[in-house]
Amino acid sequence: MDRIRIRGGRPLAGEIQIGGAKNAALPLMVAGMLTEDRVVLSNVPKLADVDTMSLLLAQHGVAVEPVGNDGRTLSIGGAITNTEAPYDIVRKMRASFLVLGPLLARVGEARVSLPGGCGIGTRPIDLHLKGLEQMGAVFELDEGYINGRAPGRLRGATIVFPFVSVGATENLLIAASLADGQTVLANAAREPEITDLATCLVAMGGRITGIGTDKLVVEGVERLHGTEHTIIPDRIETGSYACAAAISGGSVFLRDARLEHLGATVRTLREAGVEILEQPGGLMVKRLNGLHGTDAMTEPYPGFPTDMQAQFMALMSVAEGASMVTETIFENRFMHVQELNRMGARINVHGASAIVRGVPSLKGAPVMATDLRASLSLILAGLGAKGETMVNRVYHLDRGYEAVERKLAACGADIERIGG
Ligand code: UD1
Repeated sequence: MDRIRIRGGRPLAGEIQIGGAKNAALPLMVAGMLTEDRVVLSNVPKLADVDTMSLLLAQHGVAVEPVGNDGRTLSIGGAITNTEAPYDIVRKMRASFLVLGPLLARVGEARVSLPGGCGIGTRPIDLHLKGLEQMGAVFELDEGYINGRAPGRLRGATIVFPFVSVGATENLLIAASLADGQTVLANAAREPEITDLATCLVAMGGRITGIGTDKLVVEGVERLHGTEHTIIPDRIETGSYACAAAISGGSVFLRDARLEHLGATVRTLREAGVEILEQPGGLMVKRLNGLHGTDAMTEPYPGFPTDMQAQFMALMSVAEGASMVTETIFENRFMHVQELNRMGARINVHGASAIVRGVPSLKGAPVMATDLRASLSLILAGLGAKGETMVNRVYHLDRGYEAVERKLAACGADIERIGG
């Protein structure tokens, strides 16, 4: 299994290209199942999760083919010939569960493995199922699989989410696009990736209003057509590299990063002493002076993202003073704490909050990556630490970050991937 070795203490300087958003690319690929025409997506990131989604679509009979030579443009299209999403794929990537909506909407039946728990919490799917039931779908549990049927077309319905769910909003938005009549999604998630999905659905002939708000109104259509769509830049990759510039005490230009997608991330980083300037073509991130302990609480967008919590904690572990980092989305997303503490951080977890007492510097150590964002938090810690850090089990990293070691090395980091 690959490992990443970092020798810390070098300020980063240079430019990093921000790729297309993973969390937009995956639902957009699923939206490609809604039509037999070709949906061409560009700015697709080169990630293991995108490969897994391609495999899943192929399993359903939908072809995913490269267009041109840039390796970042995919064409999706074809008839759905198989309605089963197998356990071996769904357990690897939770976003696979999103195929439930389009399978029911297009062919009226689906057999999708339950995703099960994952490292960061239990992650139920009841909101997806309840919403689809309101639209006329019927489900039964069969040997770890959800068997779904929608006799006739799905019907429009008013769905009020009891709390914000990104996945359920996406699943129902996709399904509602082809349903009979009007669907209202109230208390919907407002993440930029959902706006990107809705924008693409509209370009495919979907009729959606309220895009970017917490109330999406969808007038179902009988048929959607092909389109071309460019995926938005990844705001979590942006925030992660902003933390890299900050923890190393350097300055990095993040090409194609967009300030307006960063929500509370930019405010929180600025409060902590990180300079973030909008410049033509991207964002300039610098840390000139010390970092200050700053609190953060994860919330749905535009609040501070749960996907930035681990990286921000690494940064706060070397800030002056204390900070409190509170996780409200997932119950078990502090696995990086123990690893950061092995590097000399002083972090205590009390329930859903972690108290981080800043130390002057971290010390390199062998550490274990436990999930995708935790992996990046350990790389950040390694960049800011004295000595050598070896991050083990980096396969999580490859699910969601493209060429991390190459991007950081190009800015002067002493970092390399060791195969094995
Ligand atoms: C969540 C994050 C998303 C992040 C992703 C991967 C939020 C609101 N969502 O999206 O930003 O990119 O993880 O880290 O920040 N829930 C239920 N029943 C359901 C669905 C969800 O109880 O049917 C709960 C979850 O357990 C969680 C909350 O709702 O506590 C939000 O979950 P949801 O947004 O659906 O999760 P993801 O789509 O995975």
